[in-house]
Amino acid sequence: MKTQLPNGTELSLYDIAPVTPGVAADLSHIPTAVKVSGFAGEDPSPALVNADIVLISAGVARKPGMDRSDLFNINAGIVKNLVSVCADTCPKALIGIITNPVNTTVAIAADVLKKKGVYDPARLFGITTLDIIRSSTFVAEVNGVNPEDVSVPVIGGHSGITILPLLSQSGFDFDEASASAMTSRIQNAGTEVVEAKAGGGSATLSMGQAAAKFGLSLVRALNGEEGVIECTYVEGSGDRARFFAQPVLLGKNGVEKILGFGDLSAFEEKTLNAALETLRSDIKIGEEFVSQA
Ligand code: 2OP
Repeated sequence: MKTQLPNGTELSLYDIAPVTPGVAADLSHIPTAVKVSGFAGEDPSPALVNADIVLISAGVARKPGMDRSDLFNINAGIVKNLVSVCADTCPKALIGIITNPVNTTVAIAADVLKKKGVYDPARLFGITTLDIIRSSTFVAEVNGVNPEDVSVPVIGGHSGITILPLLSQSGFDFDEASASAMTSRIQNAGTEVVEAKAGGGSATLSMGQAAAKFGLSLVRALNGEEGVIECTYVEGSGDRARFFAQPVLLGKNGVEKILGFGDLSAFEEKTLNAALETLRSDIKIGEEFVSQA
């Protein structure tokens, strides 16, 4: 099997639960040149030594009826602790946050790193790739084309109304009613999975694919490939909110350049303006969590 990771890459898995070495053993039987190791227990640091990229998905998932923000009480502390160990063990690593609520946990991660004196906004990402791949899938479905040929930028955040797919840039025609219906479908896609799993958690397989896509883009950029672009939730100019998802050019040091996202349709402009208050308040909750600690 041809791995998409360069020879010599090492993959370290960590979880507080004792199953991780078994998951690593399982993965290590796949014939690739990647060395896989598993770590478990209270201390994540052995898994983080010399890490170039850290993807954090730890935490609890939603059950039916819950919003991503309902996960805050448990997941906020988990992200704070893990990022704090990253700050001590691999302060230069590119950190991608998957743990929900992403709108808030990225702010927590930033301010933990800041308190430790190692925050570099170019090295911290909220992973919103699942919104991108869902947009390709659903837009392709209604237009009867291959999803691999569809690309839709998604800006804003990663929760409910803060997820804004730019359907006007998809290459397909959407009037206001169909744009509104498709936007709602994309915004509620995570909930669709949570409800279908009926208490068994949230998206894992599509999330795994999304995290792999984003993680591999970071690897390609770290290895000097040019022109690697992903939509991701990063700290930028702050024009709309301190953290905002939009297309970003990735490079050897993480964010090379935050790119513009072109013109919005009137519907997108209206939807974005309606979401900004929620996004800013999600961010503030994270900032207060760290400042009050
Ligand atoms: C989702 O959108 C788990 O937040 C993730 O399904």
